[in-house]
Amino acid sequence: MNAVPSINPNNQLSVAAKPLFVKHLSRQNADQQTDEQSGEFVNSRRLLTTEAFERMLRKEIPNVEHLCSELSQVIETMSSSATQPISALGFAPALSRFGLEDKRELDQFLQNPEAKQVLIQNGTLKLILIRWAPGESYHIHGHASGGCVFKVLYGSIVERRYTADDQKRLLAKNEYYPGNLTYIDDTMGYHDVANPGKHPAVTMHLYTPGKK
Ligand SMILES: [Fe+2]
Repeated sequence: MNAVPSINPNNQLSVAAKPLFVKHLSRQNADQQTDEQSGEFVNSRRLLTTEAFERMLRKEIPNVEHLCSELSQVIETMSSSATQPISALGFAPALSRFGLEDKRELDQFLQNPEAKQVLIQNGTLKLILIRWAPGESYHIHGHASGGCVFKVLYGSIVERRYTADDQKRLLAKNEYYPGNLTYIDDTMGYHDVANPGKHPAVTMHLYTPGKK
């Protein structure tokens, strides 16, 4: 059985998100902000759901300010040049650079009562942060033509891929670790996802609708 290659199996591109919003919160004078920093704050406020933005300010979920800025740049570039619908693959490089290296942020989300946090939901993309309890799994499902990119941020995740038909024959079984990122849409098959381990896992998933 062949393993489906992951886009970033060696975690070589993963770097920590910049912990900038702490600076924003402690800054008394808005004039002291650099353009870049205020831009990140504005982008996260514009892209994140109201709930996610407020939770980020309360430090209940990880800081995703820098990721939001990168996603905004991708949207801007792709919207101005693309003749095809935006694919989740276009956001893979930005997602590959996001990580949960800050242990306090990780611990906070591991203890958060909400296991699933929708970060972004608009007509272009949906971004979700998910904590998987030990033994938790999600049934076989497909994804729209825009596809799904997901990345393991903590723990390990097992994904099984199947033919996208009624028979749903097993095609591959892959185990992913922090930093690993992969992509799937219905032209590649269906999949199920599970945390078979004895510890929690955290993943981030990005979807785009593709052709309507
Ligand atoms: Fe999925």
